[in-house]
Amino acid sequence: MARKVVCPPNKQARANQHFILAVYNASFFSARSIDFAMSENDEPEKLWGGRFTEATDAFVEDFTASVDFDQRLAQYDIQGSIAHARMLEQAGILTSQENSAIVDGLEAIGKDILAGNFEWSTELEDVHMNIEARLTERIGDAGKKLHTGRSRNDQVATDIRLYLRDSIDRLCDQIVHVQRVLLEIAKREAQTIMPGFTHLQVAQPVTFGHHMMAWVEMLARDLERFSDCRKRVNTMPLGSAALAGTSFPIDRNYTAEQLGFSHPCSNSLDAVSDRDFLIEFAATASLVMIHLSRFSEELVLWSSAQFGFIELSDSFCTGSSIMPQKKNPDVPELVRGKSGRVIGHLMGLLTLMKSQTLAYNKDNQEDKEPIFDTVETLKNCLLAYGAMLANMKVNPKTMYQAAKTGFSTATDLADYLVRKDTPFRDAHEIVGKAVRLAIDTDRELAELSLKEFQRLSPNIGDDVYDILTVEGSVSSRNHFGGTAPECVLQAVKNAQARLPTRESKTEQ
Ligand code: ARG
Repeated sequence: MARKVVCPPNKQARANQHFILAVYNASFFSARSIDFAMSENDEPEKLWGGRFTEATDAFVEDFTASVDFDQRLAQYDIQGSIAHARMLEQAGILTSQENSAIVDGLEAIGKDILAGNFEWSTELEDVHMNIEARLTERIGDAGKKLHTGRSRNDQVATDIRLYLRDSIDRLCDQIVHVQRVLLEIAKREAQTIMPGFTHLQVAQPVTFGHHMMAWVEMLARDLERFSDCRKRVNTMPLGSAALAGTSFPIDRNYTAEQLGFSHPCSNSLDAVSDRDFLIEFAATASLVMIHLSRFSEELVLWSSAQFGFIELSDSFCTGSSIMPQKKNPDVPELVRGKSGRVIGHLMGLLTLMKSQTLAYNKDNQEDKEPIFDTVETLKNCLLAYGAMLANMKVNPKTMYQAAKTGFSTATDLADYLVRKDTPFRDAHEIVGKAVRLAIDTDRELAELSLKEFQRLSPNIGDDVYDILTVEGSVSSRNHFGGTAPECVLQAVKNAQARLPTRESKTEQ
């Protein structure tokens, strides 16, 4: 590494530097050489060790192992192995005794893992070989037959699909829950008037319920995207083996059916290397996070003293160690911040795939941590949102006052003039002048006298004051998709009808 030295270090400083470097190198390399030494007495035996004469370097063993993180797939791995064993029996490849021993053994191992009674070994590299080795230890030779007609390549692709399918279902339940909370708020606040913004400047009055329904819509699109992505997750790689399929008379439809997959993947090379579905998932998750992050930005602003539109419950905020008056919206801020890591995972996965030749490459082992973290992050953010929104207090008075400022009914005045036969462009000009007059005299539009209005346009009558109210403004926008209270209530009903009748029962 090129280092720019501005002035030569004196002798003592140089000696110190050498000392520090020596200590650093010694600790780094001694750790390595201890590892090298340990690799000699390699235990337990590798499941793929037959063609090797030398033991794996201890560092390489650690470097290539994935068991620390892929043990999260254990229950899915067991599910997949059971289906595979049953299929092998059906195809006459395993005897029914062998199959029963395998199934019972795997079920017992699954229970041990759940109970925390399973010792994971890095020497056995990953979740698949840990479980398989344990099975053989438990049931003997029948365990060694489980891997017939299968490879870890189709096995891991299957596991991750099962994991993701489950995760999508749980996340969708959580999104629906957040939607339900929003619908409650929208119904309750259908009449509550707030300023609507464009460019973060007051634009036109809207109802708070309408604003909540905008978030319901965004989440509805997220649900659609997840359910579309799920279709491509839900196909089965098993039977593709390492890359070319297997010479055994397997029945892939039977395995797929047992595992609830819609069908087996059509091309063995594609099946073991495809990670598109993970990228689609990460992209969909990123959009959910973008939505939550935008929402968070609004909650942070709205809960500030300057806005004062809402108050988050104390249990969702934190204080400051130095400023006693502070109540910080940490939860929405953190959700906004966490959008970065989820988007990062999407970029990581895209980059992971971009130069991979067919078929499986070890690169793919790097797909798991980003996906697990994406699922965890999304789960926690949705959990936080459901509870935070349910406890959010709304301040209709502050919002109402804010809606009345900033000439939010100027467009209503222009529309009024158009209805009185003034061309829209002329109306725009007239209203612009009225706004100027109000600014110059420090008044709201509704505070201008009829005479002042009529000086600007003879088309203005004293009925103008009805349309200058924020209530009049919102209730006039009473078409499908509009902000009028009755439309918000209708939108709530429509959204409720679209929701699943019951969230499927999943533990969080
Ligand atoms: N741990 C591996 C992964 O996550 C499992 C598949 C290993 N396959 C192989 N050919 N080395 O991708």
